[in-house]
Amino acid sequence: MATAVAELAGVTVTRGRAVLLDNLDLRIDEDQRWVVIGPNGAGKTTMLQLLAAQLHPTSGIVGLLGEVVGTVDVFELRPRIGLTSSALASRIPRGEKVRDLVVSAAYAVVGRWRETYDEWDFARADELLQQFRIAEFADRTFGTLSSGEQKRVQVARALMTDPELLLLDEPASGLDIAGREALVATLSELFTDPHSPATVLVTHHLEEIPQGVTHCLLLGRGRIVAAGPLHETLTSDNLSATFEMPLAVGLVDGRWTARGA
Ligand SMILES: Nc1ncnc2c1ncn2[C@@H]1O[C@H](COP(=O)(O)OP(=O)(O)OP(=O)(O)O)[C@@H](O)[C@H]1O
Ligand SMILES: [Mg+2]
Repeated sequence: MATAVAELAGVTVTRGRAVLLDNLDLRIDEDQRWVVIGPNGAGKTTMLQLLAAQLHPTSGIVGLLGEVVGTVDVFELRPRIGLTSSALASRIPRGEKVRDLVVSAAYAVVGRWRETYDEWDFARADELLQQFRIAEFADRTFGTLSSGEQKRVQVARALMTDPELLLLDEPASGLDIAGREALVATLSELFTDPHSPATVLVTHHLEEIPQGVTHCLLLGRGRIVAAGPLHETLTSDNLSATFEMPLAVGLVDGRWTARGA
């Protein structure tokens, strides 16, 4: 029986009168890779913040890596969870060297001068730079990279601590076709590797769903419209219900598409 890395039970998040997430129940197992799809404002980023132990629910229970959030020190949990988001990206110092940015993730700090690192850390960082095809940029500063290259650095950085749960919030947003295809290819390699961590990937584009994704969560207005195995869940009917408009889902050569029906 697979082990749950994350569990939401009756989770609600409210801000004033606004209900951002409404009574979510979800279980993510260690061998699962989830894609989360839903309209702007549906609550996807809010859900990822819960799963990253960055946010506490207003009510309900969030279980992460065998612990209940609120009963353990979040600083113990966070290094075991890898997160990339545009909010985090904007905090990365532009003048920092790529290798140092990846290495410093081991200590969950931005700016490697704050800590000391050992040979093992640098070997691990170089391995990740190779895997994400950014080794040639190791000595460049982050600010000189294209946005596609920066996205790959961010995912490599999120993997540096060997997280048990990897959370990717729109990693391909803003990329051109070549940048997107390179990132999708890299994520496909990662997701089909049986040793890679449980993952939750948020995206707006079905074309960005990598190979190896096993499950799909459709979120609309803070509620789960459908959740389960990818092929059963990502249907035209379910996507139409999520976006409240008629949509047709396609699948050609392992790549998904959606268009108005
Ligand atoms: N402090 C707050 N008070 C009221 N509403 C808030 C607050 N913070 C966030 N929201 C609202 O919560 C909703 C969910 O936001 P969230 O960022 O989770 O959406 P999302 O699904 O990630 O959207 P996007 O696709 O645009 O990134 C949005 O409508 C947002 O305006
Ligand atoms: Mg968002």
